This record gives sequence, C-alpha cells and structure tokens, in this order.
Amino acid sequence: MPLTSCEFKMSHFANSHTDKDLIRLRQFLKETLHKSGAQIPGNPSASKQLLNLACGRADETKVLADVFGHDAESIHLTGIDIRNREIGEAKERWSRVSDKASADFLVQDASQLAQIKELDHQFDVAFMRHQNFWNGDTTWTKIYDEALHRLDDDGLLVITSYFDREHRLALDAIQGLGAELICTERNHDSRIITDAPNKSVDRHIAIFRKP
Ligand SMILES: C[S@@+](CC[C@H](N)C(=O)[O-])C[C@H]1O[C@@H](n2cnc3c(N)ncnc32)[C@H](O)[C@@H]1O
Repeated sequence: MPLTSCEFKMSHFANSHTDKDLIRLRQFLKETLHKSGAQIPGNPSASKQLLNLACGRADETKVLADVFGHDAESIHLTGIDIRNREIGEAKERWSRVSDKASADFLVQDASQLAQIKELDHQFDVAFMRHQNFWNGDTTWTKIYDEALHRLDDDGLLVITSYFDREHRLALDAIQGLGAELICTERNHDSRIITDAPNKSVDRHIAIFRKP
C-alpha cells in the first residue's frame, strides 16, 4: 500500500520510523486476517477485549483498536509488561485512544496472568508483538499458555516476530500447547533493522485459535 504524506503529519513518536512501521503493521494485520479467513471474535454489540502481552510502550495500541475493533461498538485493550518505564509511557500516550476504544496498562508478569486480579474476564484476542522466544523459552511458553487460557472459545492469539528462527520456535511452542495455527505470513515490506542481521520489524505474523 502506498504511504501518503498526510499519514505522517501527526506523528508523536520519538522514533522517526515508528509511524511508517505502524502503517505497515496495520496493513499486514488486515491482509493476514483476511487471508486466514478467521472471523474477528467477539460480539459486535458488546465491548471487545484485547490483551496486549509484553507490550512495552504499546505503540501499536491504536492500530490494534482499529483492526480488531472495527466492527464493534467498543473495544478495551489491556497492555501488560514487566517494565515500569515503558508502561508509564504507554499510559501517558494512550490515556485516550479513540471515541470507542480505551486502554489500560499494568506492570505485571505476563507468565503469571492467573495471579493478576485486574484480569477478571476472558479476552477475544491476545496479541504479542515482537515476541522474544529465543531469549528464555520457558518464560515465553508459559506466557503463551497463560494467554490461551485467557481466551474465549472463539478467541485468537496473534503474534509477530523479528527473526525467522525465533518465529519458527514460537510456532512450534504454541502448537505444542494445543493451539491451531491458522495462518503464518512473512511481511516482505518490513523494515530491516540495519544493526541486526536478519531482523526486521513485524517480519512475520501468525494467527492461532484455541483447539
Ligand atoms: C522485544 S520487546 C517487545 C515490546 C513490544 N511488544 C514491541 O513490539 O515494541 C519484549 C518485551 O517483553 C517484555 N517482557 C519480557 N518478559 C516479560 C514477562 N514475563 N512479562 C511481561 N513482559 C515481559 C519486555 O519488558 C519487553 O518490553
């Protein structure tokens, strides 16, 4: 999709690449969902619930609200990360998301979702951008396992990865937990990160459903 100049006018991100990365993510998510044939879960007349795991600064909050909430009256996003500073930035940036989308952010361990008292409901979508599987497979397997348990029966787990190998490891681990891989796609437009060979932003997306 061509990127138009007006799409960059309203940037409020410190990293000069972020706006374009988010435009690509929006497009890639929409295309992959369409290709997968997966229905966006949840009841359009109720508030959709999206869990953004290990969200860091959660730059993608508005993209997720628009893509997963487009057919809903409202959507609420809950972001979780163990880093206090990143969650602080997310809270500040997304105190307002849109007329129909709201978000809150928690400093918590995503491998212990069952212990988080604020998460007292199930989710339609669990999302994890740039998972870090290679950097501690036990923790990430636990994060995926907890996420699958927090999904409604028709819920989707959606991940993106920076690296090919890391993506394959995550696919194996999540399928090993019993989830069904609906679709995995390589994003050939993703921005290559120049100081890290074979790494690019949202290089892969995969979509899973509960067994
Ligand atoms: C590669 S970063 C991705 C951040 C963000 N999703 C993005 O795409 O910019 C991985 C994130 O995982 C978070 N993380 C690692 N272990 C975690 C855990 N057990 N619970 C919650 N967050 C965790 C880190 O703090 C970091 O923000």
